Amino acid sequence: MAETPLRIAMIGLGTVGSGVARILQQHRELLQQRAGRPLELRRVVVRDLKKTRDVDLPGSLVTDSLTGVLDDPEVDVVLELMGGTMTARDVVLQALENGKDVVTANKALLCQAGDELFGRAVKLGRTIAFEAAVAGGIPIIAAVSQSMSANRIQSIQAILNGTSNYILSQMLLAGQSYSDALGQAQELGYAEADPTLDIDGTDAAQKLTLLVRLAFGISVPVSDFHVSGIDRIEPIDISSAGELGYTIKLIAQARLGEAGLALSVRPTLVRKDRPLAQTHGSLNAVALDGDSVGPLWMSGRGAGSLPTASAVVADLVDMAVGRAQLTFPRLGLGTPGEPLPIASRDEFVSRFYLRLTVEDRPHVMADVTDILGRRGISLASVIQHEAPEVSGDAASPHVPLIIMTHRTTAGAISAAERELDDLKTVRGNRVCLAVAD
Ligand SMILES: NC(=O)c1ccc[n+]([C@@H]2O[C@H](COP(=O)([O-])OP(=O)(O)OC[C@H]3O[C@@H](n4cnc5c(N)ncnc54)[C@H](OP(=O)(O)O)[C@@H]3O)[C@@H](O)[C@H]2O)c1
Repeated sequence: MAETPLRIAMIGLGTVGSGVARILQQHRELLQQRAGRPLELRRVVVRDLKKTRDVDLPGSLVTDSLTGVLDDPEVDVVLELMGGTMTARDVVLQALENGKDVVTANKALLCQAGDELFGRAVKLGRTIAFEAAVAGGIPIIAAVSQSMSANRIQSIQAILNGTSNYILSQMLLAGQSYSDALGQAQELGYAEADPTLDIDGTDAAQKLTLLVRLAFGISVPVSDFHVSGIDRIEPIDISSAGELGYTIKLIAQARLGEAGLALSVRPTLVRKDRPLAQTHGSLNAVALDGDSVGPLWMSGRGAGSLPTASAVVADLVDMAVGRAQLTFPRLGLGTPGEPLPIASRDEFVSRFYLRLTVEDRPHVMADVTDILGRRGISLASVIQHEAPEVSGDAASPHVPLIIMTHRTTAGAISAAERELDDLKTVRGNRVCLAVAD
């Protein structure tokens, strides 16, 4: 057994970094056996040397000198676990230039600067491993890039943001309002103090671009596809979806179709009996469909100290045995033939759930169905619960009107929504969600 250690420098000793340090300590022998050589944590870089840490490391290991560590010839692999994109990009580039391989959990960085970083790494004969950047502890990068290599992947449907999933689950299972569920997610540490990127769908979209890079060999910026989050979902949507046999989930999707690859992140009604609908709390899940293997499915912890560190340390073992170095240059090479076209947002085909708030009076329903009908949108079902009777001259009450459409395009539904907004009898928050059957 070769005994040359894999010499590691870790930038960041926060949530993920301390999990990595803990696993390297607790599973030292097991990891050495699996890697064929010791995994040696040589340096740890932090911003604030005075901060109390919840992992015990020899003081001599920890430094605040980033350059000293990146220039250290006795480091083989740099773990970028600092987060952010500006300094992190410089750190990764410098590490590659200095002849080091890189492991990162930073989806925002790879989404923004992946083309540059991957390109530079390949040119320099170096490797970037990033299992932890998508769905935390779920080994989805290995599954898509290695284990499914005999397949043309047909579709990916995934819950990739634990914060959104926690909020939607609390609204469904505990009857909480959106804002109460968000507050609880923050108290429990699932949501950041500023949860914008989680709840507006950006975080899930960044992760989707990484999966798409591996599964379909193309690099697509988040700005090129539809991304919407869960902030407009109200308890009535959760209960109406339930009445119709569905659960609302924030679904990141990539699907091959006639118009090309359709990508989106949007709140979606998923049939209650599907595993994705039953993935609750802060869990993540990914459903894949390969042309050879058929449908398959993985679920687990998408964030948190040890689950994310589990993926980071697996990358280190891959580096130590040389597996990562062999597969990296072939990642995202694309598929033979023309590059896949990206379907336009308007071409996205789905059934839709539409919730309007309408005045409860004659002709309203006819006006709404007329607008939808002129756009070729046919109705699958309608729910309008009775409003309380009003007497005399009192204004008509406003009631929710829930419409499920048959299959149509996002373009047709958006055009209809714009017309509906002009109706005087339609008021307030309007919600339009995709339906995954
Ligand atoms: N948290 C999760 O569950 C999770 C899951 C999947 C992926 N990720 C990704 O993993 C990465 C790390 O996340 P995290 O939650 O562990 O972050 P975190 O808790 O905020 O930790 C960041 C660490 O980086 C250090 N750091 C930041 N800027 C630095 C600089 N300029 N020089 C030296 N050290 C610096 C900080 O030092 P101080 O401690 O001294 O401030 C801290 O130890 C992010 O890219 C994140 O997106 C996180």
